[in-house]
Order: sequence, then C-alpha cells, then structure tokens
Amino acid sequence: MVNITVDGIGLQANKEATVLQVARENGIDIPTLCYNESLGPEGRCRLCMVEVSKGNRTRIVTSCLYPVEEGLQVRTETEKVLLIRRMVLELLLARCPDSEVIQAMAVKMGVEKPRFQLDEGNWKCILCGLCVKTCEEAVGVSAIGLSQRGSHKKVGTPFLEPTMVCIGCGACHFICPTGAIKMTEQDGIRRIWGRDFKLQACHVCGNFFAPEYQLEWMSKKAGVPLEFFQTCQNCRK
Ligand code: SF4
Ligand code: FES
Repeated sequence: MVNITVDGIGLQANKEATVLQVARENGIDIPTLCYNESLGPEGRCRLCMVEVSKGNRTRIVTSCLYPVEEGLQVRTETEKVLLIRRMVLELLLARCPDSEVIQAMAVKMGVEKPRFQLDEGNWKCILCGLCVKTCEEAVGVSAIGLSQRGSHKKVGTPFLEPTMVCIGCGACHFICPTGAIKMTEQDGIRRIWGRDFKLQACHVCGNFFAPEYQLEWMSKKAGVPLEFFQTCQNCRK
C-alpha cells in the first residue's frame, strides 16, 4: 500500500492502482468517457486530467493511466484542470455535436457552444476504440474495426458493409460511452450494423432475449447443446 492525498484527503491506496481507480473507490468524481473498468484504461478521451505533485514537480496527467506512488498529491479540480477539461469538452462537442452524453457533460461543466468548427455528419463517435476492443477481446469475433485516416477515421464493419462475422450480440452498443452505435429491436428482430437478427424467445417465459445467430455461435464454440442457451438468464436461475 502507498499513502497519497486526493484533494487534500489522505488515502491509502494499492500500489498497483491508478489515480482514477483510487479516486473512484473513495467517491471522488473525475469525469471520464473512454474508461471502462472491465476493459482497462485507453487514455483516449483526455477528460480525466488531474494535477499531480511530487516534491517540487507539478504536472497535468491522465488519471486513468497514471499509477499512484508514495507521497503523491493529486488535485482533481484546480483552475488549470478545469480549464483543460472544458477545452477537451469543447473539442469533443465540436466533433460529436449530436451526442446527448457529451452535451450533458458540457452543460455540467459550463461549456456552451464550442469555439471550434463543428464536424458535420460525424454522428456521435469519439473514436475511443472501446467497441472494437470489446468485440475483439471480450466477444472474440472482431466484426468491427477502425478504418480510414485522420478526420475520416471511423468505426465500422469491413467496407462498411453488413458482415456475417457479427453475431448481433450488441456488446459494442452497450459499451459505447457516447451512444454512437445504433441498435434497434422490434417485433422480435434486432437490427445492428446493417443486419437483422431474429431474436430467440425464451423456452420458459417466452420473452425475446438474444439473437438466434448468437446463441448458435455460443453453442458451437462451447460445444454445449443449443437447447441450453434457449432459456434466458432469468429463467435459468
Ligand atoms: S462507436 Fe462508441 S465505443 Fe466505438 S469508438 Fe466510437 S465512441 Fe468509442
Ligand atoms: S478516461 Fe482517461 S483518457 Fe479517457
């Protein structure tokens, strides 16, 4: 364990932890977009900036990546930190003017209209890569990726066409911090990445709960009979 202070409060922290983790464990709010506890830090959104001091040295760092160390002093809301955070939010808002999540954050931080030119038609994506990482590492199918360069960079399926690699699980939609990945469900059909997936009705309660295609994929992968997967989580308890 190491001793640190966050906003003047003395805390004991696991020496493997990051500043963000310790702050969160102790109920200290640092805004984030690209951090997801189960996937680890990405360091892409730059919203989680804080000021750290050790000895005579003070620096602005990304708290999701910065490891704690003995004697570290962290300040989460100095004038400089707030200035940078507002600037980052302005940039994010200019990039994703349609994202309700970013709009709400901007209002909370007192950011009104970005001074930068709005990116038109850029939907809501901040290019954090969480969806791609989830699809590849947690689901294990790699149906989506980042393509093109510079300001044209975007997340999507190969050639932005519907792909049979996608199993329709919706993990990318659920993990996306800005609501950028559209998924709809109607009349037993889930639509995502340009494909329609027929949903399985639970054999016990009758509710639709997951795409048939996803359940077949899980059955094959696990070597478990399909019937096992045709009952929803609630009815399996
Ligand atoms: S779609 Fe969402 S999760 Fe994927 S890169 Fe964009 S903001 Fe991140
Ligand atoms: S949460 Fe740290 S950079 Fe996004």
